[in-house]
Amino acid sequence: MQRPTSIVVLTGAGISAESGVDTFRDKDGIWSKIDYRDVATPEGFARNPELVDDFYNQRRAGLADVAPNAAHVALARLERAFPGKFLIVTQNIDDLHERAGSLRLIHMHGELTKALCAHCGARHAWHGAMSRASRCPSCQEIGQLRPDVVWFGEMPYLMDEIDEALASCDLFVSIGTSGNVYPAAGFVEQARHAGARTIELNLEPSEGHDLFEQAIHGRATEIVPEFVEHILA
Ligand code: NAD
Ligand code: APR
Repeated sequence: MQRPTSIVVLTGAGISAESGVDTFRDKDGIWSKIDYRDVATPEGFARNPELVDDFYNQRRAGLADVAPNAAHVALARLERAFPGKFLIVTQNIDDLHERAGSLRLIHMHGELTKALCAHCGARHAWHGAMSRASRCPSCQEIGQLRPDVVWFGEMPYLMDEIDEALASCDLFVSIGTSGNVYPAAGFVEQARHAGARTIELNLEPSEGHDLFEQAIHGRATEIVPEFVEHILA
């Protein structure tokens, strides 16, 4: 493969699966155990904020028991070989990319480790005892804190920056996502429109697999390090 000059990587729940973080739509996935409308929509949060806080508090507590895997580490290594020309856009709200050493990273669906104030828009690290009833550390309002997670029907973060990166990359790699949710599922078409090569690395063909020039199927902890070795060879 000709050495790329600018790389954008999209990751989904599948890259964290082998770290022990549940995916959403695999067998026994998160959405097979709880209705996404109750815990991943603004309506669900308005209906029962305690249920939503509990859902994310459990997932946040679980972060202490998981660690980055070889796929996260391989991407951090790849970034060091392309300083300033490498971006990870993750749909994941876990912190495994950061803990693996990735620096240029956009959490388009937000971050499990953060609280967002619906009143002033400030973001703060989520401390254990925080809840809907906590006071915002910035504006001191009470009852305005929510998980800093983008829910169905809400707009993801930093889309302008993502669109710009997709328009100027020459390699787009999608890792561990089922390609079910937009706008992330449409990034491959934006990259192709910009003339980039497009490759899917996933356990099995995703919804949009036929939009990619190339597909490599397997477990992320095997195929991602191999892919990075190939790029750096
Ligand atoms: P969408 O159309 O992007 O995705 C809807 C998804 O909901 C579908 O892909 C489907 O897989 C899933 N879905 C539908 N019925 C389901 C069910 N019964 N159980 C589990 N999953 C089910 O959704 P949208 O409302 O148009 O969302 C668009 C915006 O919301 C986008 O900006 C996206 O980034 C954001 N978003 C955030 C999250 C999140 O949890 N952080 C999840 C999805 C979408
Ligand atoms: N290695 C590689 N791929 C894997 C592995 C693995 N070990 N395990 C699972 N996968 C793949 C599955 O085949 C599937 O295609 O990861 C994908 C996970 O898909 P989803 O569970 O749908 O997760 P994701 O694509 O990230 O969901 C997108 O939907 O509900 C929202 O906010 C949620 O950000 C999420 C978005």
